[in-house]
Amino acid sequence: MEIISTVADLEKLLSKIPKDKTLGFVPTMGALHQGHLSLVQQAISENHICLCSIFVNPTQFNNSEDLDQYPNRIEADLKLLKAEGCDIAFTPSKSEIYPSDFKSKDYNFGSLDKVMEGANRPGHFKGVAMVVSRLFDLVCPQKAYFGEKDFQQLAIIKSLVQLDRLPIKIVPCPISRENDGLAMSSRNLRLEDRYREAAPRICQRLLELQKQLNHKSVEELKQWMFKEYEADEDLKLEYFEIANPQTLEKSIHWTDSQEHIACIALYAGKIRLIDNILLKIN
Ligand code: PAJ
Repeated sequence: MEIISTVADLEKLLSKIPKDKTLGFVPTMGALHQGHLSLVQQAISENHICLCSIFVNPTQFNNSEDLDQYPNRIEADLKLLKAEGCDIAFTPSKSEIYPSDFKSKDYNFGSLDKVMEGANRPGHFKGVAMVVSRLFDLVCPQKAYFGEKDFQQLAIIKSLVQLDRLPIKIVPCPISRENDGLAMSSRNLRLEDRYREAAPRICQRLLELQKQLNHKSVEELKQWMFKEYEADEDLKLEYFEIANPQTLEKSIHWTDSQEHIACIALYAGKIRLIDNILLKIN
């Protein structure tokens, strides 16, 4: 596996790739777990070359404590990528990604970045769009892999590619979960025992939605979820929303579309967790 840290080295390396070879790109912020590695596996299986970037992007953190505490395990990450069969690891510094003359583009994502994560983490998606568009410019992949764990991020990246008319196929990848259902996340490592024990309830309650869908209206199911969290000593709800998976507009009736996305954000102690489930109308 080639490990490179500068834009100059990246350009040199990419210029050697024959034009008929496809490049699959997996952007990450490191502290890699099986969720990230599932994206890497998919990129490897669908492309000649797989490039994974590790860059803790400061512009997408709206909470400086969260940024300070973000785990840095670069050596372990590189070992995992190598073992997986990744071809190139790109580990740039802040000044490589944001040189002093860097100009960020302004995107209009319509309502996509105004709801849920966007409403609760001001500036977050501006930072995500800034770094992903910069990385796309540098890497120029044919395909880029994003997890459905960050469902709204995925919607925004699809929109970014359309707005910039980039010839990049965005590949959504399913959520990897622990055996007890908890969605894998770098933040799970920071959960105290009490909250780690409570956390599988997030997924259990989301799964309950699909079972109750035929018996309750959208509003009744939302109220049911709110009550579950009101009674929960450990998990404190930030938002819970049922929305159209394409537009992220709030669902009013089940008949509005064939599928709905139920998204949740909550605090387990000081740690913020997100999850979602796609609900299918049958
Ligand atoms: P990060 O949180 O490191 O996640 C990198 C990629 O892994 C994202 O596409 C995310 O959705 C995916 N991922 C994380 N946990 C997952 C899980 N349990 N199952 C499946 N996929 C999972 O998301 C970011 O970094 C950043 O915002 C980034 C896109 C790199 C821009 O800085």
